[in-house]
Amino acid sequence: MQLSYLAQLGIISLEHPEGASRTGHQEDFDTWFQGRLCEGALGKQFPQTCQSVVEVACSWRRRFPPPLWARLARDNCSTLLKEAREAVPTIAFVQDCLAELDPADGPITIVDLCSGLGFLGMFLAELLPAERVHGCVLVDQAWPLKGGAPQAPQQSKKHRTQLNWDHIYNLTWPVPLVTRRSDLKLPSTQVQILSRILEPAPGPVVVLGIHLCGILAIRAVETFNAGPKCVAFALKPCCLPPLQYAKSRTRWTLGTHTFGAAEVCAWGKYNKNVWNGPAKATLAPRFRMWSSNLFRGLLAESKECLHVELVEGHYQDTYLFGRRRFSAQSPTPPEIFSEASPEQVARRILEASEAHEVLGVPTDVSIRQLRRRWTTLAHALKSDKPECAAAFQKIKDAFDQIRSLRRLCPEDEGDEKGSKLASPLPGLHQLRHEGMPAWHSRADSHA
Ligand SMILES: C[S@@+](CC[C@H](N)C(=O)[O-])C[C@H]1O[C@@H](n2cnc3c(N)ncnc32)[C@H](O)[C@@H]1O
Repeated sequence: MQLSYLAQLGIISLEHPEGASRTGHQEDFDTWFQGRLCEGALGKQFPQTCQSVVEVACSWRRRFPPPLWARLARDNCSTLLKEAREAVPTIAFVQDCLAELDPADGPITIVDLCSGLGFLGMFLAELLPAERVHGCVLVDQAWPLKGGAPQAPQQSKKHRTQLNWDHIYNLTWPVPLVTRRSDLKLPSTQVQILSRILEPAPGPVVVLGIHLCGILAIRAVETFNAGPKCVAFALKPCCLPPLQYAKSRTRWTLGTHTFGAAEVCAWGKYNKNVWNGPAKATLAPRFRMWSSNLFRGLLAESKECLHVELVEGHYQDTYLFGRRRFSAQSPTPPEIFSEASPEQVARRILEASEAHEVLGVPTDVSIRQLRRRWTTLAHALKSDKPECAAAFQKIKDAFDQIRSLRRLCPEDEGDEKGSKLASPLPGLHQLRHEGMPAWHSRADSHA
């Protein structure tokens, strides 16, 4: 029976009598915190990790300056407890992965996407062997900009900087913790994560995303899928994507897997912590579908989908884990059409609606990768069948569309120049010499 249930009956109180202050005995606090953290299925599934996390959190109460502890422990430790409980399965996963990595590959870099206050990174910093960790990058759009002071909460989303980083930078951590203010929904963020975090990393990279709402979960999978050096991934998806994606008939392509927004979107959102939408329980089947699609899109050599009931009866209980061997190269997505006939390839292309999905590339694809993809698809469509001609035209239009979008995005200029876009569609000259049917040449002529 969960402690929260006993509290509802009035048999026990979940409030620690001293609240976040440090006037109470440390032992009383430790016992209370341990009871709350280990309650329910979590304590049974992860007894050791729960115990380690309890020890770390309780040591913070002893060690940290009172104002910093008071901030972390506000609202009777409710945020700390919630995030610590959510972090436990991921901490166990990262510890397992690290144990299996070859130290000769170098120390790991942890990237915590949508980190919030950074509790997950803080626990990992204390629990992992420091000599094996290069650092932990806490990515969130709500951090202040580097060099700027934390500001008061602002109305405009663009200027939202409500996270205060004092606990990150005013305390000494066993491994370096750094904050990075980034909006994960922007394509330029994916490019920056690649060039500023993944490529310079001195060894394997672990990508984490806990409690990620809507398409932030898609961005997390894309980051891992496209990332060189990425060896481990943990994702705990949260809210479903909003209906706007279903209305615009969006389809997402992750790795070799494609799925439509209509399958997974739902209306409803929180307004000042009050849910305004369909009864939560009715969303369970959709949430399963959402998690399953994200799982299928994960490019990993081994994957695990784990259910941990953090709140009794709550359907958002899914952790998706993936592992890949260490490689300094980005993984090449296994071709969706490697075994397929030209007609099957054409059918998949004709079924797709959005340009990236048509070409089977992630939204942050580089122009170089795009050109390579186009050439491969053009080869795979070699046939005189009319559906192959239609599919060929569709990949050409999709290529043009993505390229013109990129022209509007200044961050990608270097990439375009570097990949010599003077010849817009690659490989056509070569294809014609290999005996492409006439319709391919026609498409080329107005490219
Ligand atoms: C539900 S919290 C998750 C925090 C933490 N990972 C946890 O385990 O509880 C969501 C976090 O995502 C951040 N966030 C929301 N939209 C974002 C975006 N587009 N880019 C980056 N961070 C975002 C918010 O600022 C918030 O800190």
